[in-house]
Amino acid sequence: MAATFLTLFILLALAMSATAADPDMLQDLCVADLTSGVKVNGFACKDAAAVNATDFFFAGLAAPGSTNNTMGSLVTAANVQKIPGLNTLGVSLSRIDYAPGGLNPPHTHPRATEIVFVLEGELDVGFITTANALISKTIKKGEIFVFPRGLVHFQKNNGGVPAAVIAAFNSQLPGTQSIAVTLFAATPPVPDHVLTMAFQVGTKEVEKIKSRLAPKK
Ligand SMILES: *[C@@H]1O[C@H](CO)[C@@H](O)[C@H](O)[C@H]1NC(C)=O
Ligand SMILES: *[C@@H]1O[C@H](CO)[C@@H](O)[C@H](O)[C@H]1NC(C)=O
Repeated sequence: MAATFLTLFILLALAMSATAADPDMLQDLCVADLTSGVKVNGFACKDAAAVNATDFFFAGLAAPGSTNNTMGSLVTAANVQKIPGLNTLGVSLSRIDYAPGGLNPPHTHPRATEIVFVLEGELDVGFITTANALISKTIKKGEIFVFPRGLVHFQKNNGGVPAAVIAAFNSQLPGTQSIAVTLFAATPPVPDHVLTMAFQVGTKEVEKIKSRLAPKK
């Protein structure tokens, strides 16, 4: 009997942790003390007496960012690192700007589902499931698309004018792994023999990609 209860409890706990994104909060607010050396699952709370509106405010998504870079896109995050008041609240936003032809290259967010709302322009977007099916669509101003948590996804501006989206996440800090950069520009580097075998190409090709994706000095 006790064992049955224990099994039930474990199953319930597993089901809950599988459906939740960031864990639930245990207090009204816990404004991140980004300078604290205390390591917890998130950030330590700063003294409540020192909390004010500034901790919950950010103006950084108001204007387009510069997309003058190799990919022709820029992600501006509004997460707990920018808005300390988001600590423990389980949500955040980003603004993404795209030059004509700009690409937000294939990447994943290990800790959040993403929902984007198109502010301007038109984008070809898609994600790939674990069954390796591509789910893609063209979306335009005022429309929404969803990228399920953890799945590889991308957005490309195939229009002739700039585009922009607001992206919302069910995590205070979704985390991003950009596939190409993760594999070809890690520190220390992923060994060539791993990449030549995985991608079925030669060392020359791998070295070429590595040099192109190396962080600009
Ligand atoms: C909030 O507190 C900070 C210092 O902790 C101060 O610089 C800022 O002016 C305060 N903002 C408001 C809106 O009171
Ligand atoms: C874009 O960046 C390049 C290299 O950093 C620079 O030379 C160029 O002037 C920039 N163009 C604009 C329009 O800012």
